[in-house]
Amino acid sequence: MTDNGVLKVAMPKGRIYKQASKLFRQAGLLIPEEFDESRRLIIPVPEANMEFIMAKPVDVPTYVEYGVADIGIVGKDVLMEENKDVYELLDLGIARCRMSVIGLPDWKPVINPRVATKYASVASQYFREQGQQVEVIKLNGSIELAPLIGLADRIVDMVETGQTLKENGLVEMETLFQVTSRLIANRVSYRLKNTAIQELCDRLGVAIAARV
Ligand code: PRP
Repeated sequence: MTDNGVLKVAMPKGRIYKQASKLFRQAGLLIPEEFDESRRLIIPVPEANMEFIMAKPVDVPTYVEYGVADIGIVGKDVLMEENKDVYELLDLGIARCRMSVIGLPDWKPVINPRVATKYASVASQYFREQGQQVEVIKLNGSIELAPLIGLADRIVDMVETGQTLKENGLVEMETLFQVTSRLIANRVSYRLKNTAIQELCDRLGVAIAARV
């Protein structure tokens, strides 16, 4: 791990980035706007003594666990699924949604039902805890298709506005947990760059409190 004092931040590309960069700006950090729509993967943020590593959201915990990023921003959904060895420092309160069991309104229990999901580990654990035997089928997106075309009886997926469910005639059956984005840290970086990380946490904490 190189340590030139610059804090390396694994940022999730896409919609969480928009909310995260807004929060960073509200915390008083000078995040250059020129990169908001950019395809650049490493973004220098010299005014904040940071460097953003633009990662696929699901990979953020991996970059942080290996220490190539000191800290990262990631949804609780990914954190639960990936189960990496990182510190969870702060609930940023952004990208709020929930992890739910979803199905068709006329769904009826069957023996050994199939459950499609991007979150195979989360779903397996949930149904195991419920004492239900299910076959989990891992998909990578458009999970709502699965019950519509008969691949699975139910799905475990994220619900934000509920629009996707509504437009596809699906209903939420149970909520597993609420999801927001979290600030995570590499265990070694947390010690070596503690002052910088703590200062960032304090600034973000103030910005989060000011939002409510
Ligand atoms: C996510 C999620 C749902 C949808 C929920 O999918 O998997 O499909 O958003 O949002 P809503 O409640 O506001 O409709 P995403 O757009 O990330 O694409 P994906 O289907 O490829 O996972």
